[in-house]
Amino acid sequence: MKILVTGAAGFIGYSLCKHLLKGNNKVFGLDNFNNYYDKKLKYNRYKDLKKVNSSFKIYKINLENINKVNFIFQKHKFDYVYHFAAQAGVRYSINDPDLYFKTNIFGFYNVLKCCEKFKVKHLIFASSSSVYGDKLSKSSENDNTDHPLQFYAATKKSNEVMAHSFSNIYKLPTTAVRFFTIYGPWGRPDMSLFKFTNSILNKKIVYLYNSGNHKRDFTYIDDIVVPLKKLMKKQLKNEIPFQIFNIGNGESVSLKKFLNELKKTLKLKPKIKYLNKQKGDVKNTLSDNLKSKKKLNFKSSTNYKKGIKKFVKWYLNYYKIYD
Ligand SMILES: NC(=O)c1ccc[n+]([C@@H]2O[C@H](COP(=O)([O-])OP(=O)(O)OC[C@H]3O[C@@H](n4cnc5c(N)ncnc54)[C@H](O)[C@@H]3O)[C@@H](O)[C@H]2O)c1
Repeated sequence: MKILVTGAAGFIGYSLCKHLLKGNNKVFGLDNFNNYYDKKLKYNRYKDLKKVNSSFKIYKINLENINKVNFIFQKHKFDYVYHFAAQAGVRYSINDPDLYFKTNIFGFYNVLKCCEKFKVKHLIFASSSSVYGDKLSKSSENDNTDHPLQFYAATKKSNEVMAHSFSNIYKLPTTAVRFFTIYGPWGRPDMSLFKFTNSILNKKIVYLYNSGNHKRDFTYIDDIVVPLKKLMKKQLKNEIPFQIFNIGNGESVSLKKFLNELKKTLKLKPKIKYLNKQKGDVKNTLSDNLKSKKKLNFKSSTNYKKGIKKFVKWYLNYYKIYD
């Protein structure tokens, strides 16, 4: 079985590759190793994957280059594709929407075209909880997602409708996975836990937007790789083989509370600056996991306190900080 993981040097792509490489799968990666955040972290993830399987390869390709994307599809004839390469981050999409358009819309279109052309059995791609906009209650897959609040969410929603059309016309099985704030070891430096940890350890100010009252459904990385693998063979076989799954922890925690737990774990007192809510931020995210529980046997077993401890342990070791 040949599997392509795009965004393999990224946080979620790397974590899934690590899990898949431990099985009997032929896994290939694609990533352009861009400098949105520390490139060294991406190359170190790659090195770590090579420790699991020395022949593992990540093709350094930009998704916007259809010839190169086409080339690897032609060469390897993948059975399954996990598409995680994207310009991530809600806030940065306000600064540079062009980049989001190029990678998340045009790049995604290139992946769709190749999956259709080379008859991939199932394309699973990353969508996001941001498509739900601002909601106070739990978000479930059938809720309305027609009002994205920033361009990042708009690109993710667009991916879903693009995939739906390919599933209908070309019968390409596609699945959108709406991730809810994934965190953990080897995580993303632009996300809250990484930023807070870095600031506290370096005695810099921790900025808390909306005075820390935002609530997020923090989802621990190791809890999601098993259901993601299981999803591979769960493609629909009906008239329009398109489906959506939420993947979240199912518990919403305020940023204030999250930071407080981190403070206790690090045994250091942060310098905090409380700020107003930022443009485009949603106040609350919370996943309804009924469907993923039922169909993928998804269980989120790591609560935020346990997850923070595991992240801190990795962080201190990775940056060689010993107390
Ligand atoms: N981490 C989360 O909490 C979260 C939440 C919701 C959705 N998502 C989505 O999940 C996916 C993976 O997220 P992540 O947290 O691992 O992000 P990440 O930034 O760590 O990984 C994305 C990878 O894609 C690569 N990439 C970007 N543009 C590319 C291009 N044009 N061509 C080739 N490669 C390119 C980057 O170099 C990076 O390694 C993304 O689609 C993201 O939008 C993530």
